[in-house]
Amino acid sequence: MTFTFSIAFHGSALALELTPGEQAGKRLYREGLSTSDAQLTARVGASGMSVPASVLPCAGCHGTDGRGRPEGNVRPPSLDWQRLAQGKAYTDANLARAIQHGIDPAGNRLDPAMPRFELTLADQRNLTAYLKRLGEERDPGVEQSVLRLGTLLPASGPLAGAAHVVRAVLEDAIAQLNQNGGIHGRRLELVVLDPGDNPASAEQALSRLLDQEQAFALIAPMAPMLDQRLATLLEQHRVPLVGSTPRNGGSLQIFDPMPDLATQLLSLALHARDVLAVPADGLRVVYAGDEQAPLAEQVRERLQQQGLAPAPVQAFDGQPVDGEGILFLGRAQSFTELAQALQAAGRHPYLFAASSQVAGGLVKLPAQWSQRVLLAYPFVPGDWTAQGQATLAGLQQRQHLDPRQASLQVSTLCAMRLLTEALKQIGRDASRERLMAALEGLYDVDTGLTPALNFGPGRRQGMAGAHVVAVELPGPRFTAVAPYRPVPVNP
Ligand code: HEC
Repeated sequence: MTFTFSIAFHGSALALELTPGEQAGKRLYREGLSTSDAQLTARVGASGMSVPASVLPCAGCHGTDGRGRPEGNVRPPSLDWQRLAQGKAYTDANLARAIQHGIDPAGNRLDPAMPRFELTLADQRNLTAYLKRLGEERDPGVEQSVLRLGTLLPASGPLAGAAHVVRAVLEDAIAQLNQNGGIHGRRLELVVLDPGDNPASAEQALSRLLDQEQAFALIAPMAPMLDQRLATLLEQHRVPLVGSTPRNGGSLQIFDPMPDLATQLLSLALHARDVLAVPADGLRVVYAGDEQAPLAEQVRERLQQQGLAPAPVQAFDGQPVDGEGILFLGRAQSFTELAQALQAAGRHPYLFAASSQVAGGLVKLPAQWSQRVLLAYPFVPGDWTAQGQATLAGLQQRQHLDPRQASLQVSTLCAMRLLTEALKQIGRDASRERLMAALEGLYDVDTGLTPALNFGPGRRQGMAGAHVVAVELPGPRFTAVAPYRPVPVNP
């Protein structure tokens, strides 16, 4: 499989060029820090309590983009200089008065939710200079006629085949959008970098994507070796990512159309209890491979929150395990080995697993396991509307993709759908902060290929459950036995 990497060509001016004074003002605005050694203070609320300004930087309320970030019933206004100067008659002098004494140009007292800042003359001058430029400041990747997205896709190794599919889906979707004029007058551009095969090379690729290549947001990267580091790096850069959650923990920066594995297994466990009448103490969480251990603990915790009381999690080491219903985490190979070990011991409990982990090993299961294996699927073909099917078929035809591997195609399409929906909503004035807010606000998104996707404050997975599908052997043949329904999320 050959890969050609697009070397993105960027126009000249990237980030806003700031004078040293404006730069200092930016630091004050974002971090509450003075150029002198002095600690700046802010007085807050009706009582006028003093706190370091670094605890309450302007950006915390007015947003790094200066467009105001409403929280509860406090609504910090936009600090766009045009609006302040022309709309409200702000000048250098009365701006200083507003920031330091809380009085606006018309002589009104500003709400005490706006702190009063004690600033030196130099700090005030720098801050004012920066506020005048703030409106021009754009996040990386947002240019006059281009909006740049980035992703990490390995060109070799075990993930290369899947990466090729993801790339084809993204490029196809972007080509379609650009043919229709892009989004708010900007053409989308995709920068693809190879994360290599180890954590260090992946981290380097991610830094390059964000710093040199100036990706505005990330879409559907495949870099499992970054794992927890990914969340940290995204948070540092405040970059949103739409795509799959890394195994060890999500992040507020990551929006995933699909449910995570713990949620999928919880759907199966509730089906075991409610439909198959597996007793609450008959469920076991079993995992194969050390890397699955934290996930297994997470599943057990979720079960406990639902009043199910599984025994401690168990590592599968080739020996049969007991229990009437086994919730399995691990690879397809180990899943078949577990089934074999159980069968050799004359046991046929229910086996539950996520289709994404074990589907590859089902052909090897003996017929005795027919209807005893139940899998979680985030979506099934029954979810597909006529329009969804047409979209998928068009994609497969244009990109020569195998219709039997629809799963990854659908999840990538959904990620792209979420991102473009949010980009359309934020308008031309695109910033990462606004994109995050728009993604968080996406509700009841009809993809035509999955159940409706929903996000919300703190909610980062579009689906909160999975379909339960029984496996009939030999075959395998699949029957959906319980439709998708949201399961309770983490409290
Ligand atoms: C704790 C939240 C908070 C912080 C921190 C904060 N502000 Fe405000 N700011 C507000 C709120 C709320 C208002 C609206 C007050 C009102 O409507 O009376 C406001 C109003 C203003 C106004 C008046 C705008 C207008 O339309 O008249 C300016 C100017 C301003 N802030 C600048 C700043 C600057 C510069 C900083 C940092 C040095 C800062 N603010 C820090 C919450 C904050």
